[in-house]
Amino acid sequence: MTSLATNQDLDPRLLRDAFGTFPSGVVALAAEIDGRPIGLAASSFTSVSLDPPLVSVSLATSSKTWPDLRRSSHIGVTVLADHHAEVCRALAGPVDHRFDELDFTTTPEGAITLDEGLASFDCTIYREVEAGDHVVVLLELHAVHQAEDNAHPLVFHRSGFGTLRTLA
Ligand SMILES: Cc1cc2nc3c(=O)[nH]c(=O)nc-3n(C[C@H](O)[C@H](O)[C@H](O)COP(=O)(O)O)c2cc1C
Repeated sequence: MTSLATNQDLDPRLLRDAFGTFPSGVVALAAEIDGRPIGLAASSFTSVSLDPPLVSVSLATSSKTWPDLRRSSHIGVTVLADHHAEVCRALAGPVDHRFDELDFTTTPEGAITLDEGLASFDCTIYREVEAGDHVVVLLELHAVHQAEDNAHPLVFHRSGFGTLRTLA
């Protein structure tokens, strides 16, 4: 193990690689806007607070979807299952085709959740915090649903997808 150098040039590629060593799940963030489903995949999802119930995602300020998504009064968050690798790629792909192959449910308030997620949440925006080239979005939860089966999560690690099946 090499020691940490000071005054190191923290270029984005170096940082992305180092951040990528930290494994995470992936969620779909989605809502209906102007009669169309819109959304994106996010691996920055984190549970934050039980009282009030809060979660967070960190979204790039370059996101073209977030300015639209944030217009919805409610936003759906779905924890992706390990069979969702293609779904995840689609949700990060061309905007007009992200929901082409997806089964999803829309609430009367416009929150969209995927039908086969491990868990899903109905959220409103609690706070947005500017954070460099990202905005940390705190979402307040209004409803939660957890799948009854023992499906496993999709895991994102070092820019690739894996599963936790070996832990079963
Ligand atoms: C596995 C995975 C995780 C991602 N996580 C995030 C994330 O946490 N934050 C983010 O801003 N974009 C994330 N993205 C990228 C978005 O899904 C999307 O591609 C990006 O926001 C560009 O699309 P947009 O301009 O429509 O927002 C992720 C993509 C993938 C494939």
